[in-house]
Amino acid sequence: MEPFKTYKLWDIEPVRGLDTKLWDSLGVEYTDLYGGHAVISVGHCHPYYVEKISEQLHRLGFYSNAVQNSLQKDLARRLGEVSGYADYSLFLCNSGAEANENAMKLASFQTSREKILAFRKAFHGRTSGAVEATDNPKIQAPFNHSGKVTFVPLNDLGSAEKEIRTKTYAGVIVEGIQGVAGIHSPTDAFLKELEKLCRETGTLLILDEVQSGYGRTGHFFAHQPSGIRPDIITTAKGMGNGFPIGGVLIAPDIRSEYGMLGTTFGGNHLACTAALAVLDIIENEHLIENAARVGDVFKAGLSSNKAVLEYRGRGLMIGLELQEGYSGLRDRLLFEKHYFTGAAGPSVIRLLPSLTISPETAKEFIKSWNELI
Ligand SMILES: Cc1ncc(COP(=O)(O)O)c(C=O)c1O
Repeated sequence: MEPFKTYKLWDIEPVRGLDTKLWDSLGVEYTDLYGGHAVISVGHCHPYYVEKISEQLHRLGFYSNAVQNSLQKDLARRLGEVSGYADYSLFLCNSGAEANENAMKLASFQTSREKILAFRKAFHGRTSGAVEATDNPKIQAPFNHSGKVTFVPLNDLGSAEKEIRTKTYAGVIVEGIQGVAGIHSPTDAFLKELEKLCRETGTLLILDEVQSGYGRTGHFFAHQPSGIRPDIITTAKGMGNGFPIGGVLIAPDIRSEYGMLGTTFGGNHLACTAALAVLDIIENEHLIENAARVGDVFKAGLSSNKAVLEYRGRGLMIGLELQEGYSGLRDRLLFEKHYFTGAAGPSVIRLLPSLTISPETAKEFIKSWNELI
């Protein structure tokens, strides 16, 4: 048997990592400004993280959701404290798509409505409902066309209002910052109006913070500077620093019933331990502040760069729209300077490094970038 061929792969195999460094099977050293797609939040193989997971693995790796698991309670309490959502409750699952799937399901249970409003260029994952709320027909199978999702342009309040006022939507789902689309932010005013419209019409506001959350933007969640309090918030990527875990933060007025949501692996002992270690490290090492600080270094060095048409994003969630003629730059950064970066199409480079990145590493990258252009 062979792996199913669904990914386009670089011919590089990282076999070891430490903080923002990676080494491949030939011993070549790389700097990781991609974090395996925004997943590495506290650095590769952080010693505290490794120690906590190893300890837990020696004690108990897994048991089902049919018994008490105080690690889930600890995680809910800690995440509530660190994120500023102490009064919400937490449902644990295994990935970003699952978090969004459960969020939309919950909105539908709560409102007894069946439709979802999503935004153009959105990406919410590849499970059945999440992929239908993802604005990319190429990754939707005929099975995923239930006709229950409507898309309107991001930041187009008039179009969103027209739909929401029909009072037929269970929820509106919006990314804290659109990631896969190439780093596009909803404005604060837009989020505030969405919140107001949702409240007036009994529609639930779902913030997908799977990529933009966990401190990456210099706030725990990207939506927080707008002052809104969504009904449901979804998280995943940075939550476990590579250990698969997703979470749904649920406002206090949303009712729960036994059996309405469930999963075999969600909230298992190892996943909770990984997520608790991540929160400890984020707090102890002041990583949210570091994300803002190092984000400013990238911005100062690249926002007026001659290869950059537009600098988008906040903190360490960065989109660099390239000027014409620079579409080969990402490959050159990788093969000539040994930097892993992300992309959104041929003209956008995405930087999603670990929140532990130092200002010096950011400056070295800018120097390498300037040597190539
Ligand atoms: C905003 C957003 N939501 C959901 C997902 C899906 O997450 P996962 O791949 O863990 O299912 C992603 C993944 O890129 C994402 O960026």
